[in-house]
Amino acid sequence: MNIGVVGSGHVGLVTGACLAELGHTSICDDDDVRKIEMLKNGQMPFYEPGLKEMVDRNVAAGRLEFTTDIAHTIERSRALFIAVGTPPREDGEADLSTVEAVASRIAETMREYKLVVEKSTVPVHTGIQIKRTMEMRRKNDVEFDVASNPEFLREGSAVHDFMNPDRVVIGFETERARRNLLEIYGPLKAPIIETDMQSAEIIKHASNSFLSMKISFINAISIICEMAGADVLKVAEGVGMDKRIGRAFLDAGVGFGGFCFPKDIRAFVRIAEKLGYDFRLLKEVERINEEQKERFVAKVKEVLWNLSGKTIGVLGLAFKPNTDDMRYAPSLDIINGLLSEGAKVKAYDPAAMDAAKKLLNNVEFCKDPYDTAKDADAVALVTEWEEFEKLDLEKLKTVMRSPVLIDGRNVFDPETIQELGFVYKGMGR
Ligand code: UGA
Repeated sequence: MNIGVVGSGHVGLVTGACLAELGHTSICDDDDVRKIEMLKNGQMPFYEPGLKEMVDRNVAAGRLEFTTDIAHTIERSRALFIAVGTPPREDGEADLSTVEAVASRIAETMREYKLVVEKSTVPVHTGIQIKRTMEMRRKNDVEFDVASNPEFLREGSAVHDFMNPDRVVIGFETERARRNLLEIYGPLKAPIIETDMQSAEIIKHASNSFLSMKISFINAISIICEMAGADVLKVAEGVGMDKRIGRAFLDAGVGFGGFCFPKDIRAFVRIAEKLGYDFRLLKEVERINEEQKERFVAKVKEVLWNLSGKTIGVLGLAFKPNTDDMRYAPSLDIINGLLSEGAKVKAYDPAAMDAAKKLLNNVEFCKDPYDTAKDADAVALVTEWEEFEKLDLEKLKTVMRSPVLIDGRNVFDPETIQELGFVYKGMGR
């Protein structure tokens, strides 16, 4: 099928490339001229494993192209995926003005049937709003369908997640929309959940909320473990082996970040509020997450007593490993917390240094972990990059002013570390 993807960010670009990989012909569209130029030159605008190879392969096969010409994209495509940004407003609600603008543009431009698929994470009832907008803006009563098809891609494994999904969710109103969506996703051979648009929209927010809730739950348990002298890793293992619960997303740490969980749970709280429900459970999930970062700073302080004038080497800045994404990264609040205590902060990340430099002031950015640890009173591990798991700890210790390791992701084994002569603090153990 000829498919157009409007918005070539993380979600749009991965979707467009993977749809081409499935044998469709896709056009990735964006109004950012620089980004489209980069893509035309074979350069990826962000780091995502396997994406470049997939893009190159499908461009060479003539199944994938990039453009800033939205009229061309609309004209050429039977299905149009809306994958533009839905950034949070001040009150937490998603800003849907770009979604509306794209829907209007499709309605005004289309001259034959189109299937319009919302791919961006949007509040429930957005599909209905898109449909209303398009009905008002279309010319000559050209027919169209609107559908919801939320994405469940994780940054850092987005290509793999698209090609191997646990499920594909499609929400639609007509048999024609259903047939088109099944044609698009048929080649994936994945379980498909067919439902109405509202349910599909809620599945997305409910999924991200549930996953965030698991993280805040285990972080709360980690606090109790510390108080009780238990080990949260063993607790997570014991709890997670119950198939009804599952081990995934039970890693205690400095809290969740990224552009999805923090913004989506706030948006879902707002959606519930507007519908008349006070989603206090989710507000608590957010509160626990905020506190987790403060707790981490307090932990560093507990070991070093006064932070004023002390040097802390921070390992890991991205919100999780295998990405250069710094949006809502816990490292930002943690570093600002350390700085406000008067500490000097040195930092290193294998991929997110450029992005971090734009967001952090008064931080000395270092070339590697050992450079970061040099003359530091403590090293604070914030993101669990594989590179840190393989550190030469003896070497690290020799360059530090005092051998203190605060492990925000429980990467190291406390006993081994202590045997090496480190003062060690993990999360919930
Ligand atoms: C998340 C979801 O996992 C995807 O399914 C969804 O499609 C995506 O949001 C989205 O809505 O677009 P992502 O934000 O890329 O994906 O990252 P995750 O791997 O889910 O991690 C989110 C945060 O939770 C990270 O900061 C990570 O360090 C933290 N986390 C995760 C924990 O602290 N503990 C865990 O056990 C798991």
